[in-house]
Amino acid sequence: MEHLLHVCGRRSSQTPAPFFGSEKGLRTYLVLARKGRQRFHTTGSCYKGRTGAEHLWLTRHLRDPFVKAAKVESYRCRSAFKLLEMNERHQILRPGLRVLDCGAAPGAWSQVAVQRVNAAGTDPSAPVGFVLGVDLLHIFPLEGATFLCPADVTDPRTFRKIQELLPGGRADVILSDMAPNATGIRGLDHDRLISLCLSLLDMVPDVLHPRGTFLCKTWAGSQSHRLQKRLTEEFQNARTVKPEASRKESSEVYLLATQYRGKPGGLKG
Ligand SMILES: C[S@@+](CC[C@H](N)C(=O)[O-])C[C@H]1O[C@@H](n2cnc3c(N)ncnc32)[C@H](O)[C@@H]1O
Repeated sequence: MEHLLHVCGRRSSQTPAPFFGSEKGLRTYLVLARKGRQRFHTTGSCYKGRTGAEHLWLTRHLRDPFVKAAKVESYRCRSAFKLLEMNERHQILRPGLRVLDCGAAPGAWSQVAVQRVNAAGTDPSAPVGFVLGVDLLHIFPLEGATFLCPADVTDPRTFRKIQELLPGGRADVILSDMAPNATGIRGLDHDRLISLCLSLLDMVPDVLHPRGTFLCKTWAGSQSHRLQKRLTEEFQNARTVKPEASRKESSEVYLLATQYRGKPGGLKG
């Protein structure tokens, strides 16, 4: 089943110019984007023939300042702003780091990671990092990133390929924006996402460099404590983060764990 582990290459594609040089820059942009919402009109024609739920989704989508901003900045989707904000606040990415981006399609987080770790070598005076994105879905090529797709992160064959592809077999940062297809049954979706994060966490001793960072998306719920407990045990710091670009009505929260303690008896940072 070698085709499952197809590497999608490092070919050129549109990489947005680094826009947010500082936290202030990002905040100003978010304020402007929110103000822009009031001036953002939609035509009635795109609502024709749609159900009530579709109408509601479309209205929210068209009014969403982050959707508009993602278009302006050439990000592949609005989720780029979640990572940009968390990175500005917590300094997760810097030039030279090796990043594993799990659940990377369509590639917006990888775009941010490529810029921030200088994976395309855009800044000749800074160390060059590495970005490896993995997803069940195909991802269009992005300059500076290597994509492993379609591939299931929980599959042992994917795990071996990840180790082969990462320089030195390890990442300094593991990002996960993975989400299983939602069934709409809140408790079930929550359980499935926690299981997915726990499976990823099982890979950490063999893939994450000591003192490394782990950031994952979860949907808050009854099993969150299991993930939080593991992170607190295995990392020196663990916290919950809710970026502004994450919709308020959503139970989505991110868990950020830093300073990985390392595999017992393994590498020291
Ligand atoms: C919210 S999207 C990620 C968006 C991405 N961060 C971006 O900025 O473009 C969630 C992704 O997780 C992927 N996913 C879910 N389960 C996965 C698994 N077991 N292995 C790999 N990818 C998975 C889905 O295919 C989906 O593309």
